[in-house]
Amino acid sequence: MSTEIFSHQSVMPDEVLHWLKPQQGGVYLDGTLGGAGHSRLILESAEAIRLIGLDRDPAALQKAEQVLEPYAKQVSLHHATFDQAADVLAQLGIPAIDGMLLDLGVSSHQLDTAERGFSFRQDAPLDMRMNPLAGGTAADLVNQAEESELVRVFLSMVKSVTVAESCEQFSNSVI
Ligand SMILES: C[S@@+](CC[C@H](N)C(=O)[O-])C[C@H]1O[C@@H](n2cnc3c(N)ncnc32)[C@H](O)[C@@H]1O
Repeated sequence: MSTEIFSHQSVMPDEVLHWLKPQQGGVYLDGTLGGAGHSRLILESAEAIRLIGLDRDPAALQKAEQVLEPYAKQVSLHHATFDQAADVLAQLGIPAIDGMLLDLGVSSHQLDTAERGFSFRQDAPLDMRMNPLAGGTAADLVNQAEESELVRVFLSMVKSVTVAESCEQFSNSVI
């Protein structure tokens, strides 16, 4: 997959550095590398930092490798999900880290690449996999799952308190 068109503006760069406070020689883990904008900032902010970067999207890793090339000796990049962070650290023989960043969500690259199927802006196949090498697509799910499974999935995605409260009120009124 080409990384030529990979673009993503890292959010809240000053806040990330303020709270992470990277120290010289420190070990930091970026669990959601994306375009590696935050990782690069961390590496630039102090000498001899070791950075372990994870992303579940191979396109992000490709881009990160390119962006972090000047720091190649200080960086280990892994195709992994952030819940696998402890395993990755164990494999690397790193017993403790000084800080960890999780910038949750989709990247602009994922939204802007039509065939990834994340955006309503383009007419494209309903894929929506963060890791296009594994698992079924969203099209597979909506076309093959039982209605009860879809209800379970949609309810598990309810994040807004207002919507969650409405669901609770609705279920109370039904009971
Ligand atoms: C908002 S972007 C990160 C942007 C990055 N901070 C930067 O400065 O370029 C979020 C990234 O998290 C990745 N991601 C989403 N869920 C993940 C998971 N469970 N484990 C690892 N990476 C994940 C996505 O593939 C995407 O590349």
